[in-house]
Amino acid sequence: MLFEVANLTKRFDGLTAVADLSFSIAHGEIVGVFGPNGSGKTTLLSLIAGMLVPTAGRIVWKDREIQGAKPHDIAAAGVVKTFQNPQLFAELSVFEHLMIAGHLMLKRRLGWRRAATLFNPDTGHAGADLEKRATDVLRLCRLEAARDQAAAGLSYGEEKMLGVAMALMCEPELLLLDEPASGLGQPEIENLEAVLRDLRSHGTTLCVIDHKVGFLGKLADRAISLHHGAKIAEGTPAQVLNDPRVIAAYLGQHHA
Ligand SMILES: Nc1ncnc2c1ncn2[C@@H]1O[C@H](COP(=O)(O)OP(=O)(O)OP(=O)(O)O)[C@@H](O)[C@H]1O
Ligand SMILES: [Mg+2]
Repeated sequence: MLFEVANLTKRFDGLTAVADLSFSIAHGEIVGVFGPNGSGKTTLLSLIAGMLVPTAGRIVWKDREIQGAKPHDIAAAGVVKTFQNPQLFAELSVFEHLMIAGHLMLKRRLGWRRAATLFNPDTGHAGADLEKRATDVLRLCRLEAARDQAAAGLSYGEEKMLGVAMALMCEPELLLLDEPASGLGQPEIENLEAVLRDLRSHGTTLCVIDHKVGFLGKLADRAISLHHGAKIAEGTPAQVLNDPRVIAAYLGQHHA
């Protein structure tokens, strides 16, 4: 198995945000994570990406236990999380954001001293490689038309897509997306869906959180649903979304 979580638990003082959770992801799958507000979805992705340290349990990536490792080491190993709202620099262009993301990734991967020699034109071609990668990522993310536009002028959908594009500069093998469709209109959601499908066909494995059933229900091959941090259903998206426990969990939220 490419990726596995076993008996993962995260407690914040008295609150158990992720409760004895186990599931796995195979290479090339798109796995959807459903669950009402506060059910532990973001905490789960933050644990996987190393932004949080689990209270108990294992996270296994390619037969290596990675729980508790630093985010940059996990990213360098191929597991990358996008942020729900990427922090952008208003005056920098889309292309500049991608180049920064690429440079940071290389520096983390190589160590700062070796990275400096790489950017010396006599010793390395990393700069040119990054430009090529940024151009490929722009095309994949349908951001070519916005290449030289300052981030301040982007639509919300383009901002979110730029967040995905910056994550792609880190060459993820497993990409973790936290509510990529939230706040997007229907045409932007369709665009996002096409981008994520392309990504998968390029060999990237995806784990996606979203509340938008129409979007993630269609996109995911397999789904799990969380409630109070525990897994209450697993199966095809249709099976999970029709599960009485999942319906009750969401209804409980609306009545609350
Ligand atoms: N750093 C923290 N300290 C204390 N409690 C936290 C922390 N982070 C999350 N929690 C709590 O853990 C629970 C799960 O939160 P989490 O953000 O993972 O839920 P979620 O499923 O992503 O919700 P949403 O759909 O609203 O994004 C919530 O009760 C939340 O208040
Ligand atoms: Mg969340």
